[in-house]
Amino acid sequence: MKQLLITGATSGIGLQLAKDYAADGWHVWGCGRHGIALGGIDNVTPLAFDITDKQAWQQAAAQVAEQSLDLIMLHAGTCEYQQIEQFDGDSFARVINTNLTSIGYCLQFLLPKLKPGAQLALTGSAVIHLPFARAEAYGASKAAIHYLAQSLQRDLLTQNITVSEIQPGFVATPLTAHNDFNMPWLMSVEQASARIRQGLARRKQIIAFPRRLLWTLKLIAHLPITWQQRLLAEHPRGD
Ligand SMILES: NC(=O)c1ccc[n+]([C@@H]2O[C@H](COP(=O)([O-])OP(=O)(O)OC[C@H]3O[C@@H](n4cnc5c(N)ncnc54)[C@H](OP(=O)(O)O)[C@@H]3O)[C@@H](O)[C@H]2O)c1
Repeated sequence: MKQLLITGATSGIGLQLAKDYAADGWHVWGCGRHGIALGGIDNVTPLAFDITDKQAWQQAAAQVAEQSLDLIMLHAGTCEYQQIEQFDGDSFARVINTNLTSIGYCLQFLLPKLKPGAQLALTGSAVIHLPFARAEAYGASKAAIHYLAQSLQRDLLTQNITVSEIQPGFVATPLTAHNDFNMPWLMSVEQASARIRQGLARRKQIIAFPRRLLWTLKLIAHLPITWQQRLLAEHPRGD
């Protein structure tokens, strides 16, 4: 049985990925604080812990100890918007720790468990193509993941390990349910999971979707800065 370890497996896109890989016959180690969400799914072993806790990562790695992994998906994430009138440093740290620092702990304890020829996937976001208002923490964490994925790819080449960066557009999940702005080309978790699994099966290094959103963001990013600011003036403050 192929072995997948995925963070963020207890909700949204990650929960759908865990279900789909398990249905395809993989054994899934599903991480998330609310492991109960994974109860009763065949082929899924929940690992309930907080990914910002380094010791908890060490313990989780010990549970996986006997297995070599075919795929690690570092998919967990959170989003908290800033109010620029009162920048919240604790909120900033929470987002960076969850989305980025946790990846460092995982790499420390689990990278040695990847088989030669295995795959590593990091979930970033389409947001990196264009800076949005209020998204200072979220966008910075995802931009860092973009660099991290490319750097890891260089280092892991000799072990024939493919690193993929996943850049989803808007997907309907509990994370986006509270967004107070228009989300063009919103996708379902089933659609997102299908795109991600297809990209990983092809060992693509960048898995970005939907294309219409990506091209729109890239196009706007190429306009003069003042035009971009005018175009995005209403987005996504919503307050
Ligand atoms: N939805 C979108 O439109 C969209 C777009 C671009 C990128 N993404 C990225 O896709 C990923 C999943 O997003 P989603 O929309 O599916 O979100 P979601 O439904 O809110 O799921 C987030 C997952 O992350 C886990 N998580 C968060 N903080 C954690 C912590 N401290 N310790 C352990 N697990 C933690 C949650 O598990 P517990 O709560 O059980 O701990 C949950 O399983 C994120 O990286 C997000 O940035 C989403």
